[in-house]
Amino acid sequence: SLLSGSSDCLRGKSVVITAGPTREALDPVRYLSNHSSGKMGFALAEAAQRAGAQVTLIAGPVNLATPAQVKRVDVVDARDMRAAAERAADLCDIFIGAAAVADFRPATMAEQKIKKREGCDESAIALVKNPDIVAGIAARSQRRPFTVGFAAETQQVEHYAQDKLQRKNLDMIIANDVSSTNSGFNSDRNAVTVIDRHSSTHLPQALKADLARQLIEIIAAKAQP
Ligand code: CTP
Ligand code: CA
Repeated sequence: SLLSGSSDCLRGKSVVITAGPTREALDPVRYLSNHSSGKMGFALAEAAQRAGAQVTLIAGPVNLATPAQVKRVDVVDARDMRAAAERAADLCDIFIGAAAVADFRPATMAEQKIKKREGCDESAIALVKNPDIVAGIAARSQRRPFTVGFAAETQQVEHYAQDKLQRKNLDMIIANDVSSTNSGFNSDRNAVTVIDRHSSTHLPQALKADLARQLIEIIAAKAQP
């Protein structure tokens, strides 16, 4: 309505969003992860819900409240997140991969806490690649939603984002410069460039909630069949 300033751009649509980091266990007390706060993904979930969508938010370990009327599925590692994403994506119109998925996980998870060894001053951890969740969704031949990814970069932001758009067969990518201190991973603010096959649009630094509203409008417009 005009009063609340909300739009109905996703009325009747189903949206799935991944958010936050994943946590890859090394042993019962240790893990590999990253500094993602989940704020951007949660802001997108809230904005999509307010725009009229039915929203499923697949969240890694984060310290954030679930937005009103959003269905939240909590996961820990990348393989859990993929399973939840594949299940939820079967029924959705739009899939947004906002999670900072750990690219690798420890090759084995030790059953017991790993001990230091006497006289051993160095150690190494063998890693194996995790599945690419958003690329898996975008590679579908059936029940393929409009698929949006993020590109977290510290250099050559547009170049690497273009490359990811094509390699992962995405419909849209939101490029994010995580090198600047006032945007990206743990900040309340962010600045992004939205890239699809035909255009590139810069959205200047704003609160993640405001940016999320703008992004949802852009995604809704582009996802129209
Ligand atoms: N992504 C994913 N599954 C992974 C890795 C990434 O779904 N295993 C998704 C992220 O959610 C994001 C997009 O892919 O939407 C890009 O993530 P990013 O880390 O920027 O790119 P990578 O392809 O992992 O490449 P790199 O980290 O080497 O830059
Ligand atoms: Ca990555």
